[in-house]
Amino acid sequence: MDRPSVQRQIEAWYNAALPRLRESSTADALELARSKFLARNTGWRAQILADFAQLDRDSKKELGGYLNQVKDDLEELYERKKAELGTTRAAWIPPADRTMPARHLWRGSTHPVTRVIDEIADIFCELGFTIALGPQVETEWYNFGALNFPPDHPAMDMHDTLYVRDDVLLRTHTSPVQIRTLQRFPPPIRILAPGDVFRRDFFDASHAPMFAQIEGLCVDEGISFVDLKAMLSNFARRFFGAARTRFRPSYFPFTEPSAEMDVECQLCKGVGCGVCKGTGWTEILGSGMVHPSVLEAAGVDSERYTGWAFGMGPARIAMQRYDIPDIRLLYDSDIRFLEQVAE
Ligand code: PHE
Repeated sequence: MDRPSVQRQIEAWYNAALPRLRESSTADALELARSKFLARNTGWRAQILADFAQLDRDSKKELGGYLNQVKDDLEELYERKKAELGTTRAAWIPPADRTMPARHLWRGSTHPVTRVIDEIADIFCELGFTIALGPQVETEWYNFGALNFPPDHPAMDMHDTLYVRDDVLLRTHTSPVQIRTLQRFPPPIRILAPGDVFRRDFFDASHAPMFAQIEGLCVDEGISFVDLKAMLSNFARRFFGAARTRFRPSYFPFTEPSAEMDVECQLCKGVGCGVCKGTGWTEILGSGMVHPSVLEAAGVDSERYTGWAFGMGPARIAMQRYDIPDIRLLYDSDIRFLEQVAE
């Protein structure tokens, strides 16, 4: 090894390494260049140092400074590039925009219908009622037959009821829970059965093909219509405040006699408005004395026991209470609407 050839090697090294280091545009490319040109034990630099070591003392003295200068230059360039690429990446994070509106903090709340159900359940539980649940897919017998619907009743028609199979359907009301409860437990019975029901209705401002109902059932010895009226009036006072109520005769196959209960319209306080269609009243439930053949169908002695039942629509009540004009709003999951109702 002579001095001129080592000097040429150093020059070639510098000329090759410089653009590679300078033009590295990613941290990976830079590290690749480093291992090729600057690694101590392998690659170009190691080779030069090995050749340099073979030179005589004078040549070493003459070339040593140059070699160190080139090495320092390349290393400095490498360090600078490394810092630059590091900060380039950090610079990608946009600086904080202090004019940006604060992020909305979402606070969960219960759906208006759920809230109404919960409040109603609280009142009845305090009165000694227990929550009972039943399946949403029912047999025709539980949904209609046991509830004293005459054969070929129009409610059973395909046009009104959603059938799963021949005699299996989506329950059209929560009343089948009456039968299931009476079959399982001996009186005295006091249950409240909230749940979803299904009907083949068009989805319009006042109808939905699926909606919630709350069933109430009370069966014991000596239960009379007085108990029904007292209990439901008491409930209305608790739930609606000092509102007046009225009972209107009605008809259901599974209750006799039957009555619908109206509550003074919450919006106009009985004066008459658009919501109550000028009557001053809102219908909130259907009720009546449990028909003896319903008790018998469920295996309860109708000579010994009597009872009353009701079914109400919490969606209607929520619409009244929160002044909601269209039932579809309750199904839209539109946060802008639900936020207005949330408490
Ligand atoms: N199941 C009836 C309906 O859906 C409501 C009701 C329940 C009426 C219990 C009387 C007694 O319309």
